[in-house]
Amino acid sequence: PEIGAVLNLDEFELIAQEHLSDQAWAYYSSAGDDEITKAANRAAYGRVYFRPRILRRVGEVDPTVPLLGAENGERTLPFYISPAAMAKLGHPDGELNLTRAAGQAGVVQGISANASVSLDEMLTARIAGQPLMYQLYVNRDRAASEKILRHVEASGVNAVMLTVDAPVMGKRERDMRCKGEVVSVGGGTGTSSEAKGVAQAISQYIDADLSWDIIDWYHSVCKLPLFLKGIQTVEDAILASEHGVQGIVLSNHGGRSLDYSPPPLDVLIELRERRPDLLESMHVYIDGGVRRGTDVLKALALGARGVGLGRPFLYAQSGYGEEGALRAIDILKDEIERGMRLLGITSLDELGPHMIDILPRVAY
Ligand code: FNR
Repeated sequence: PEIGAVLNLDEFELIAQEHLSDQAWAYYSSAGDDEITKAANRAAYGRVYFRPRILRRVGEVDPTVPLLGAENGERTLPFYISPAAMAKLGHPDGELNLTRAAGQAGVVQGISANASVSLDEMLTARIAGQPLMYQLYVNRDRAASEKILRHVEASGVNAVMLTVDAPVMGKRERDMRCKGEVVSVGGGTGTSSEAKGVAQAISQYIDADLSWDIIDWYHSVCKLPLFLKGIQTVEDAILASEHGVQGIVLSNHGGRSLDYSPPPLDVLIELRERRPDLLESMHVYIDGGVRRGTDVLKALALGARGVGLGRPFLYAQSGYGEEGALRAIDILKDEIERGMRLLGITSLDELGPHMIDILPRVAY
């Protein structure tokens, strides 16, 4: 369909399913085991209802928040592109589509360690001052990771996300059944058509023996703000704050790691109940299952400072390249602004627990 006819992010998924290769569709859409967590990530947003207020002068609304990791007053839309690997499986320009669209819209792009476009190519496509975040998987060969971090720091990237929810890949059976050629990735692993699926082919270098002292190691080699991505319990959110990180991302890798890991929104609700102080002292971001502007507003009302989306941007750029990614950003921005007006707020700072009702937790 013509891009102007695409009205919501789910439509990009339907279009991608029709047009992607079997391998790309399996890699992008698959999740761990029975994909229960993948579905729950999204369903959890159904527990949260709004308490909209009326007659509150909503002609002008400001849909921005302080930029992730930035202390200089810069602002951005409250969502970002979650780092997701292998955009070239969907479109020849791959991650460059995301860099270009994010640059135009002033949206933060998370760059996957396993991107199919090199960091240098993305840096070349970057416009002056464009915010970027680099996502790292720590290599068993620690020197290789150190080299990457030094390059990232020298490149003026804003922050690093260290992904900690995938010491091994989840068992993604749809991906495992699709054996094909794999394009090379930034993580430095070779290609493999023998491997069981794309995920295994690009993840063999990841160190499964990491412990909390990895944070000290990080600070010893890189000065950029650090976000731990893949926090799945309040217990680990507390530990992360004790170990001195700028922030955390509540995430279960879009359901791709441990099946029956809780939906990040449920973890955020529990964090707000048990340790609301941590939402002040650290930056807490969330990803997984976010598909609507109202989802973004719900997460912000619960105290998240930013919300990531993975698959929707992969699907959008697969079907329509840079235009698709830009359209996805516009759709979300419009939904957020419209949602703000209908909720009766003009600034995202006005969001808070008083603007929502939370239904009891259920089996999704
Ligand atoms: C991912 N994700 C991911 N995360 C990460 O830290 N490094 C990576 O290389 C990847 N690669 C990746 C590939 C694909 C195809 C997907 C779908 C996801 C996880 C990603 O950052 C994010 O946590 C989830 O995508 C969020 O869930 P949704 O928005 O896809 O539901």
